[in-house]
Amino acid sequence: MSRLFPTLFSPFEIRGRRFRNRLFLPAHGTGYAEGGRVGERGLAYYRARVESGIALLMTEAQQVVPREGQKYPQLSAADDGCIPALRELARLCAEHDCRFFGQLYHEGRAQAHSLDGSRDVALAPSALPDERFHTMPRALTVAMIEDLVGRFAAGARRMREAGCDGVEILVGMGYLHAQFLSPRTNVRSDAWGGSPEGRLRFLRETLAAVREATGDDFIVGIRIAGEEFDPDGLDLEVTLDTCRRLDRGGLVDYVNVCAGGTHGLVGASNIVPPMFVDTGLVLPWAEAVRRAVSVPVFAAGRINQPHEAERALAGDQADMIGMVRALIADPEFARKAEQDRPDDIRACIACNQACIGHRRQGFGVSCIQYPETGRELEYAHLRSAEPRKRVAVVGGGPGGMKVAAVAAERGHEVTLYERAARLGGQALLAQALPGRAEFGGLVTNLENEVRRHGVAVRRNTEATAAMLLADAPDAVVVATGALPYRPPGDFAEAHVVTAWEVIESRANVGGSVLIADWRCDWIGLGLAEKLATEGCAVRLCVNGEMAGETIPAYVRYQWAGRLHRLGVQVMPYLRLFGADRDTVYLQHTMSGDPVLCEDVDTLVLACGHQAQLELHEALEGKVPELHAIGDCLSPRTAEEAVLEGLKVAALI
Ligand SMILES: Cc1cc2nc3c(=O)[nH]c(=O)nc-3n(C[C@H](O)[C@H](O)[C@H](O)COP(=O)(O)O)c2cc1C
Ligand code: SF4
Repeated sequence: MSRLFPTLFSPFEIRGRRFRNRLFLPAHGTGYAEGGRVGERGLAYYRARVESGIALLMTEAQQVVPREGQKYPQLSAADDGCIPALRELARLCAEHDCRFFGQLYHEGRAQAHSLDGSRDVALAPSALPDERFHTMPRALTVAMIEDLVGRFAAGARRMREAGCDGVEILVGMGYLHAQFLSPRTNVRSDAWGGSPEGRLRFLRETLAAVREATGDDFIVGIRIAGEEFDPDGLDLEVTLDTCRRLDRGGLVDYVNVCAGGTHGLVGASNIVPPMFVDTGLVLPWAEAVRRAVSVPVFAAGRINQPHEAERALAGDQADMIGMVRALIADPEFARKAEQDRPDDIRACIACNQACIGHRRQGFGVSCIQYPETGRELEYAHLRSAEPRKRVAVVGGGPGGMKVAAVAAERGHEVTLYERAARLGGQALLAQALPGRAEFGGLVTNLENEVRRHGVAVRRNTEATAAMLLADAPDAVVVATGALPYRPPGDFAEAHVVTAWEVIESRANVGGSVLIADWRCDWIGLGLAEKLATEGCAVRLCVNGEMAGETIPAYVRYQWAGRLHRLGVQVMPYLRLFGADRDTVYLQHTMSGDPVLCEDVDTLVLACGHQAQLELHEALEGKVPELHAIGDCLSPRTAEEAVLEGLKVAALI
């Protein structure tokens, strides 16, 4: 029994089914579905989380309409073929006293995926344009609506047959049921629109049909957003009205409150809120829903610590707390919290890079801090070190810390050398950008792991080749990172500073600034925000299609709003050539035309980095085992450095 989190670890019941505690893993597309079914990798991913002691596992959103030939890796509940694989998941859950629900949905006009590269016919209550996916949907006929109701019921029946304890209808986040509820997206004048009750009819009939298909002892709930952040989306008023009506009709056993919606970019970016958004985003809406209904209320959205969950539960804001990214970042979250070890939890930093960022690129979820996620089959259970080696790791950035921590955990004797006074490398710079302080959590988490696993850390120590050769370790891992790259060009008369100098407040910057952003990532965006906030007139010249082209979309969307508010002028498709006293010379990357930016006091170079591989070269052939990881191989991001650290640590 947890002393620190007594409410979080108190049991709970719905329709006679027991939940061991109040922590659940909400629905999320893992990207590990194979042919619409839970595959081996997906099962291993879920196993790691279920074994840790969560009370409820929800499947990802499953389609109820067949999508033959769909390449996008997503579960489907549209035919009985889904049952065997789900049964295996149900068995896993039952073994660990974890309840198991299936989530069902129809995306409606929010058509994000194609079957074969061409566009399918999007469907919606009314033929109105969708701002995010640029679909002009076909309005559903009554026969089509009734058919869909039947498909949801059939999907729910399959969940029951697979051994689920319940089913959740994903209203939204702006999906089809939410599109029916919103007066902006449902302008029908028939019995499926026209009034709040008419707009509710599709959901009401779906839930009634689901109940009929699953029986009285099955749990039926909905997931609905407290706020969709979009003119077309639901707001708290509509959500509360909907929940009250469903509750009065006895149609739901619980309401799961989430955030965001799919109609536009603001709503979308709040579905998986990045670190710009305060923690606990969803809780005020969950509390409002809880006051409005008699059934239990679940809440998930930007909650990443057990203290926060405990506070919300003890404060009657919700009955269950869901965490997706927190459990992607640390599958052992539940066990650590239950054992009163919150400091051992690897807190999610809401960077969105390897979880939702990977999904949007078509890959399975992982975590920049914990690349074992999604790679459980390869890395969840590493063998103990045999023989035990003396390992020297040079460079205390994220990659160096990861390799040191995992190698030490396996039993090696590891020494980590860092030239600076602090561990963290470039992550220390990233956290200094506006709104990015949470990025420092990456350093805190990895430092904890380094300490926990007994790595000997030598700060303020430059490990030279001579020193390492004298010490004669069995293996050396070079993680020496990179330094700012200075592009060729004529800058002799200009006032030029590097991104790092600005971030570290070592540069004397004039009032009119031009940032040459080659990386198209958070550095250019963060510098622009920092300098504009400090009162500079900022032009952000990007050598790409848009600022933030290489970072996760939801982070980019929010940054676009922040820079617009600050009056930053963003100029895409520009290649840097040179600069003189007050003019920067660029070239349009498509037309080839010169572009002159005048009245510039300071040119800030955000032009990427240059690998520092000298130590590796000096040691080649002179030590028994030599590895290089991260930016010193090729400058990329913390994600690759940490992943390469894991791979090398597993190999040594
Ligand atoms: C990779 C990924 C996929 C998601 N897919 C779904 C989904 O299938 N159904 C759903 O209701 N929510 C989905 N979500 C939203 C999450 O359930 C959750 O509301 C969101 O991540 C915010 O919670 P968190 O701050 O605990 O991560 C997804 C989130 C992520 C990160
Ligand atoms: S990649 Fe970032 S946002 Fe995603 S789980 Fe890991 S720390 Fe959290």
